[in-house]
Amino acid sequence: MQTLEPWKQDHSGYPDELKRLVHQHLEDETARSLPHVIPQLPKQPTVQGMDSPHQAGDHISYDMLTRAPHYLLTSHFTSIRPGAPVRGSHRHISAPTLFCLEGRGWERNDDAYYEFDSLDLLVVPPYTIHQHGGFEDVGAEIYVPETGRIHHIMGLVWREQHKLSEKPTFPDGTEPLYEGEHLVGYLIKRGVLGITEDIEVRLGAEPHREAAFKGRRGSGSWTGGADNTYDRYVKLMHDEADFCREVDHVVHGAEQPWEMTAHGKLKWYVHPRTASASKQKWIYLHEIPAGSRSGRHRHVAEELILVVRGKGYDVHDGERWEWTEGELICIPTMTEHQHFVTGDTDALLLSAMPSHYTFLGFGGIEHFEDAPEYEPEPVDG
Ligand SMILES: [Fe+2]
Ligand SMILES: [Fe+2]
Repeated sequence: MQTLEPWKQDHSGYPDELKRLVHQHLEDETARSLPHVIPQLPKQPTVQGMDSPHQAGDHISYDMLTRAPHYLLTSHFTSIRPGAPVRGSHRHISAPTLFCLEGRGWERNDDAYYEFDSLDLLVVPPYTIHQHGGFEDVGAEIYVPETGRIHHIMGLVWREQHKLSEKPTFPDGTEPLYEGEHLVGYLIKRGVLGITEDIEVRLGAEPHREAAFKGRRGSGSWTGGADNTYDRYVKLMHDEADFCREVDHVVHGAEQPWEMTAHGKLKWYVHPRTASASKQKWIYLHEIPAGSRSGRHRHVAEELILVVRGKGYDVHDGERWEWTEGELICIPTMTEHQHFVTGDTDALLLSAMPSHYTFLGFGGIEHFEDAPEYEPEPVDG
């Protein structure tokens, strides 16, 4: 594998143009060497149930292009067993989306409480303290597609723990941190990942970020004018706060319609035009009958697909990639692709794409071939 850690090399003496060309070549070679279909990394037991590592590398940008040819997208799975101790609460800046594959559960977002069912999508607004769990009797299987790497690049990868779980455990390399009798956080011991001094991780908010989040959360209901460009952006912060307060935090699968489209039968959860706090992903379910296929198309955004059910293969720029239930299909940017279902059952695919591309003006889809079930509306005249 080529090195993707140019900061470890001495580049003095080479012009930037030359460095960029060398690094983009090495990066492209690495991306092309990675598989487009990856099996799930196994889940590890936790007190609450089972948790998986990040499937296509951690959401920090240093870990991109390690398991899949994806820059922004990764994902993880969480199984909360019935009757599990309640998880702790935490906060990060990005707005996470959690898809419930099976079971039922609940979510606390700041002071609000929501419940979710199988095939519902939870959308947590940005910088919200959140905590989730499964219902006592059934538990919950959750899949979390993530675009966190872009927040890393933007300087917004901060995550803080507010409450530990009901029965906290401390993995190797960490130990609880007490003040008197009170558990106030934990220590990450020196030696872990090469650190030379212990790191204190204290529960609760970091004061400067807290001030910024509070200011935004506490705003809203703008009554002033917005007659110049500067004022329009001042108003925007208030409008964003109103929007996050008013919007539902659960997209209920049962309430979303199936649409027959040129790409096949789709059910949308979020995309840039939906009234949802997630402005960072398109997420839809795609059902393809046994023996059939999707439309064939190409878009600039990379796409991550969880095979919820079924078996088949994809063709990406002429190359065939087999997939089966539970695997993750990773479509790189600007790749022509189509899904084919083999076997006797239909396939259900859950697709996620970062919507950042759309906001940059690269959101359009280039469509080449219709799904066989699609009947276009006749054109009058
Ligand atoms: Fe979270
Ligand atoms: Fe696609």
